[in-house]
Amino acid sequence: MLWIPIDRSLDIPLIKQVYQQIRERILNGQLKSDEKLPSTRELSSELKVSRNVILEAYDQLLAEGFLVSRRGSGTFVAAGAFLEQHKKASSLHSFIRDEKDKKDDDINFRSGIPALDLFPRKTWAKLSYTIWSETSSSAFGYDFPEGRPELRQVLSHYLLKTRGVDCHPDQIVITSGATQAMTLVSKLLLSLNDTVIMEDPITNDIQTIFKTTGAHLYPIPVDEYGMKTSYLPLNKNPRFVFVTPSHQFPLGGALPIQRRIQLIHYSRKTNCYLVEDDYDSEFRYEGPPVSSLQGLDPERVLYIGSFSKILSPALRMGYLILPLQLIEQCRKLKWFSDLHTPSLDQLIL
Ligand SMILES: Cc1ncc(COP(=O)(O)O)c(C=O)c1O
Repeated sequence: MLWIPIDRSLDIPLIKQVYQQIRERILNGQLKSDEKLPSTRELSSELKVSRNVILEAYDQLLAEGFLVSRRGSGTFVAAGAFLEQHKKASSLHSFIRDEKDKKDDDINFRSGIPALDLFPRKTWAKLSYTIWSETSSSAFGYDFPEGRPELRQVLSHYLLKTRGVDCHPDQIVITSGATQAMTLVSKLLLSLNDTVIMEDPITNDIQTIFKTTGAHLYPIPVDEYGMKTSYLPLNKNPRFVFVTPSHQFPLGGALPIQRRIQLIHYSRKTNCYLVEDDYDSEFRYEGPPVSSLQGLDPERVLYIGSFSKILSPALRMGYLILPLQLIEQCRKLKWFSDLHTPSLDQLIL
């Protein structure tokens, strides 16, 4: 008899559970060509599900060529449906485990996740309705790679007011999160064997983004105020220095003005850029917001921001602000990366 574990606590319909498990076993060779399957009546009574469930699952497998039915003798595994090295990871078993492992009341110890239950769902839903129903149909086509002018206009005012960022809306490229902004920066500025100076520690993900271009990373230690700028090397000829000056990740320091000025002097002296990742400076325990590094020298600093912390990482919405000379090339790179970030979400935001 064919044993198929059925789990009624899952959101997956029973027909799909039966279909997927038989399909999987045929693909990986556990059920062999010409092997006879139990009748729908037998299997339904064995699995304690209605006969219709089995009938529909069999019908689907017949339609897709996994099974053949022979008049008078039953249903058989079709020839040629075995696929060597079919990945186990895609099996229903691992899917069931993943689904079960996720519980809403689990505590997630990953850092940098905002209070997801505080997301303004009703406001977002109301605005979504208005935007989706009232926006002119031209917004439903392909758009410009730098993003919607409405959002870039609002952002430039907001960032001037809250972060002292000095930019024209045309200097902004809307990205799919800060992560894509970093990828664009690497493509824009890095080639094989270039040097990037970074804070140590910083996340592995960010290191990987820069390293995949073949660049070398040069770490500078961090103390309770952020990067120790007195350690900046004069003989490395870096393409840029990557910093999280308003809230060092992961240690939390805010870089004092003296070190910021040292960074600017360093970038002028070595002719490199500064890349400022300002991913979460809206959140503070105390004191006024620390102004951005970008406001001190807009021609030297590429400024990255994100809506992942202030709203939700699921939005995948962020931005990159560039010195004038890099804008055109960055727009091209964004276009060849994903054309543009979803337009209607930008309008809602
Ligand atoms: C240092 C740092 N920058 C930026 C981000 C935000 O990335 P994204 O906007 O792609 O979600 C994170 C995410 O945790 C981060 O740790």
